Amino acid sequence: MDEKLIVAGLIAGADEKIDIETVLSGLATPPDRKMGDIAFPCFKLAKVMRKAPPLIADELLKKIEENTLPDVIDKVVSVGGYLNFYLDRSAISKAAVDEISRLGEAYGRSDEGGGRTVLVEFSSPNIAKPFHIGHLVSTALGHSIARIYDFLGYNTVRINHLGDWGTQFGKLITAFRLWGDEETIMKDPINELLKIYVRFHEEAEKDPSLEDDARANFRALENGDPEITKLWKLFVDASLKEFNRMYTLLGVNFDSFAGESFYTDKMPEVVDIMREKGILEESDGAMVVRYDDESMPPCIILKSDGTTIYATRDIAAALYRKRHYDFYKNVYVVGTPQTLHFKQVFGALKKMGFEWADDCVHVGFGYVRFPDKAMSTRHGDVVLLEDVLNEAIAKTKDIITQSPTSKDLDNADLVAEKVGIGAVLYTFLKSSRERDIIFTWKDILDFEGESGPYVQYAYARGRSVLSKADELGIDYENGDGSLLTSDEEYALIRMLTKLQDTVREAGERFEPSIVTRYVTDLAQQFNKFYNTCSVMKAEDELRKARLKLTACTALCIKTALRLIGVDVVEKM
Ligand code: ARG
Repeated sequence: MDEKLIVAGLIAGADEKIDIETVLSGLATPPDRKMGDIAFPCFKLAKVMRKAPPLIADELLKKIEENTLPDVIDKVVSVGGYLNFYLDRSAISKAAVDEISRLGEAYGRSDEGGGRTVLVEFSSPNIAKPFHIGHLVSTALGHSIARIYDFLGYNTVRINHLGDWGTQFGKLITAFRLWGDEETIMKDPINELLKIYVRFHEEAEKDPSLEDDARANFRALENGDPEITKLWKLFVDASLKEFNRMYTLLGVNFDSFAGESFYTDKMPEVVDIMREKGILEESDGAMVVRYDDESMPPCIILKSDGTTIYATRDIAAALYRKRHYDFYKNVYVVGTPQTLHFKQVFGALKKMGFEWADDCVHVGFGYVRFPDKAMSTRHGDVVLLEDVLNEAIAKTKDIITQSPTSKDLDNADLVAEKVGIGAVLYTFLKSSRERDIIFTWKDILDFEGESGPYVQYAYARGRSVLSKADELGIDYENGDGSLLTSDEEYALIRMLTKLQDTVREAGERFEPSIVTRYVTDLAQQFNKFYNTCSVMKAEDELRKARLKLTACTALCIKTALRLIGVDVVEKM
């Protein structure tokens, strides 16, 4: 139910000169509830009505009052050129809690996606290299965006575009044959692979023939040499084993791990199409595509030695994805440093004549900054994801085992895991994605601030009241929502009714932070309600109604947290 639409309909219905869009965009929320719930400043109509605003307001009011008002509107008043609408709280509250209780976990879902396919490419770490914090941000964002699109009724496909191809694999193979062995690698894959890779560079300074060997190995890999391919596969599997451990911890899964290597045999076609279209030009021995916009650097498609590069693989990948999935949207969750790269890729696709290039979207994000010095130095420059997660879990465990309310939890480890990981995810999804993320333990685990634990705690608080009610055998399912009319109750109800719009906006803008903001506001409003309105001590009918509101709120918090990838805990 959308009261704004109802109000706009009333105003526009009062005079044929008024168009409903103008009214909708002019509706405002009065600063003080004494002035109503929705206001319309009539000066917006001064031009079409050719009258002074106070007169317009009076005349419109008269017209509106000629008919009976809809249920949800209590009264309408004209003051100083404004039309103020007072909503019928009882009717709205009742309708809201009844709808939420009836729909349960489906509340807020929509089918507007109509099953269209949205590809979400995210995480995409590089084989044999550390999974760093930027990959974690991509993982958090992509996971959330995919869940949001699921919720909006799209068919989502999660793709991990692994960085599993490139000349560095030639070097790794050379290094492995000289200094590596399978057993050591499998014990600690990324570190061991990194070690021999670094050693390769050190030794190659002294002995340049190593570089020749590496080049030959990469060529053999490209040509499908079975021995060499087997080694490459070993590196991929070993790295994936490590990445998967973290995906499991985060509850993230993928439908496809088709990475860069998957597209190597699909690149000649890209070059053919470009030749056919006459858009491939020579430049210093390389083949490039130029753009009409001169400020855009040309995209290198083939290097002077005939090898193709990162961008060519992305062009081949997009083409493959269009054919294979016939996507409605093809989304890439990759840091903003690659903005130009994606502009070039999408621009090249457009020049190849593929109009669907406009359905490809780069969803960028900023850097993570670590004011806590200790964190950034432990492993040199890179902060390893797993350390961050494990530390979050350990610190959470410390906090909860020291807290008087939660020290007796029988599943403290599980709670620490959910709350610790939730705290990290929340932090990544808290501000607009293009902003830098400031990562400090103090903020992340601040149970009283804007944090994951704060929201999870509000949920657990709600659940604990409900389980008390269950123990007492109170049947609040049929509580009467029309009793929920106090400021605190009503404000909470209003927020619950905004879930679907919030998710839709987050989806349109590929911005999970909108959901994070929402669930934080919801938790805050719930706490306000809980601290002002006694639930268990209220008289019977009101107690049932408030319990029902508590159940609805807990449900919406759970749904919203799920959309940002965070699991709830029943007790903490
Ligand atoms: N593997 C790349 C990196 O770690 C990210 C891949 C982004 N996706 C793409 N389709 N190019 O920087």
